[in-house]
Amino acid sequence: MPALTRRTLLKASAATAASFALGAGLAARAGTAAPLALNARFGTAKLVEGGAETRVMTWALGDEAAPSGAPPILRMRKGQPFAVRLRNELDEPTTVHWHGLRIPNAMDGVPEMTQAYVYPGDAFDYAFTPPDAGTFWYHPHCNTLTQMGHGMTGVIVVETPDDPVFDAEIVLNLRDWRLGADGAFIAPFKPRDAARGGTYGTVRTANWQRAPQFEAPAGGLVRLRIAATDVTRIYTLGIDAPAAILALDSNALAAPRLLDTLDLGPGQRADIVVRMPDGEGQVVTIGNLRGSNPWTIATLVARGASLKRDQRDAGPLAANPIAHPDIASAQRIPLDVTATAEHTAGTSICGSLGYTFWAINKVPWPGDTPDPVAPLAELKLGQSYVFEIANRTPHAHPIHLHGLTFHILSSNKRTILPPPTDTILLQPDEQAELALVADNPGDWMLHCHIIEHQKTGMSSFLRIV
Ligand code: C2O
Ligand code: CU
Repeated sequence: MPALTRRTLLKASAATAASFALGAGLAARAGTAAPLALNARFGTAKLVEGGAETRVMTWALGDEAAPSGAPPILRMRKGQPFAVRLRNELDEPTTVHWHGLRIPNAMDGVPEMTQAYVYPGDAFDYAFTPPDAGTFWYHPHCNTLTQMGHGMTGVIVVETPDDPVFDAEIVLNLRDWRLGADGAFIAPFKPRDAARGGTYGTVRTANWQRAPQFEAPAGGLVRLRIAATDVTRIYTLGIDAPAAILALDSNALAAPRLLDTLDLGPGQRADIVVRMPDGEGQVVTIGNLRGSNPWTIATLVARGASLKRDQRDAGPLAANPIAHPDIASAQRIPLDVTATAEHTAGTSICGSLGYTFWAINKVPWPGDTPDPVAPLAELKLGQSYVFEIANRTPHAHPIHLHGLTFHILSSNKRTILPPPTDTILLQPDEQAELALVADNPGDWMLHCHIIEHQKTGMSSFLRIV
């Protein structure tokens, strides 16, 4: 277990203690009867030290008047019905997409494709039963660079009684903000960056706090549920304490793997178990080691007498019921991720950035219009498919597929293949084989989760009939 080599650079700043059990944020569990009220609304949050409060976009649960923190953590149970009523109190249309959940197409939250826009003052009922446990997240699928950029990225925890019990659980929602020193939003992107790796934020937060500190039982096993919900940033996580990866993108590793560093792209999640130090007051640092200036994401401080847990007590998480594709009979479909020279873009109720820089199979997505382009492929329900995906660009792209989970069969850039996933962080020039069973009917978006890439062409969809 290598220690963080640059740990001296990783200094915790803010110190906000949260409870052992849930970490920061509000937790909510759906009852069986009335749907939860999820109100999309404006709020204010203190994000810039010395600056004014920022006017954010977020969701409030029920009547919570003036939301000021990260969106509520939505807690669901595997195999149990969940229902929310989204009410739009913003001044523009919105929807909710449940990233990673394999639910019916009509609940997928893509305007013009799976549902109508939810206009200001309107409501929409989402009801579904999550088939898988794990760490997921939710966000709008309309004018996303603005709505997500201004706050609308929340974490979903789907619990299962089959999981091992930990001494504490901490949920971390990682994201940046593009703010000026006065706390006001600045231009959401720069075209020249959108045509490259994407435009980074200026303020980096976990749970809308800068380097928050959490308390955890000394010598205990802590389950971290980390979601990279930023519109651009790819993280390289490192932890300066014994830690192991339990699950990636909601799917369990067959056996926990010691954490060295872990790349996590926009849309991806990691469940990690950390063994806390034995001494009261000892601090564990979760850092971002990407680039030349590592920084602290959050810290954990050990509290109480040591529980003296053995890291090997953290067994594997329960597997989700993902179908196994029949590779021999699978039809193979190429997916080429490219840059394009075309510089036109359609207008859309859900916002257009006004540029086209990217394409999938040579077709740039024209925006969320009533007549989208044809599907990349029409798949037969129940059949197996292998996608031969090729990143023909010098940039990494977190490619996300809605409504289904795929297996990564091979890659020219990896020695260790991750568990089944909904989002592959495709490395520059990576070529990989992705296999799935087309077991969920409907139109499912496939797009880069660097939102500037998605909104400038790197988006399409698969049709399963
Ligand atoms: Cu996180 Cu189109 O989704
Ligand atoms: Cu991309």
